[in-house]
Amino acid sequence: GGRGKAEGINLKSQISNLKSQMVRVAVFASGTGSNAQKIIDYFQKHLNIQVALIASNKAGAGVLDIAKKENIPSLIIEKERFFRGDSYINELKSMDIRWIILAGFLWKVPVSLIKAFPGSILNIHPALLPKYGGKGMYGHFVHEAVIAAKEKESGITIHYVDEQFDHGKPVFQVTCPVTETDTPETLAKKILLLEHKHYPEVIERVINTNVER
Ligand code: GAR
Repeated sequence: GGRGKAEGINLKSQISNLKSQMVRVAVFASGTGSNAQKIIDYFQKHLNIQVALIASNKAGAGVLDIAKKENIPSLIIEKERFFRGDSYINELKSMDIRWIILAGFLWKVPVSLIKAFPGSILNIHPALLPKYGGKGMYGHFVHEAVIAAKEKESGITIHYVDEQFDHGKPVFQVTCPVTETDTPETLAKKILLLEHKHYPEVIERVINTNVER
């Protein structure tokens, strides 16, 4: 009778209410996207966080195949558009993106994007910042430098993104030993495993402490 109908309407409005409370994040990646994949998996059926977009600066990046496979919209941002324009920022805003997660994204984030997403951009770096960060320190270059310096440990840093390369406030670090038999390749593998293990949970924690505030 009437009651069933009223409850149906109520349920519909509750669902749309819940949908509007979803925090929509964009993952930015330049390469293979193994971290992006872990993040997608982790938030697949999440209560309030959703990977709504994969953005890349490289047309052939592996991460774009992942986006396709996962049915997640993707966006390719060419150099000119990224550094000189801000049309893509309107696109992010119109998609209601609230957080930007850098996962192996190799370009410096322009000030315009930081201003558009204040305190809402996270990055992961495959070393213990402030060591082994900055321009040119990415991927294998980082691990080569760590091995060359005969460091006894390395690790990962998850941090907020600010105007300076690899500089914003750190939110999480974890270390791993570097042994005498480690090569840049074996170290890279260890570090990547640490990233996969921790990044999704740290993203969840950071977003949800900000939401609650
Ligand atoms: C990750 O190890 C990430 O920390 C690193 O690139 C790799 C991407 O791997 N990022 C940087 O070096 C940023 N300066 P993935 O594409 O398989 O996730």
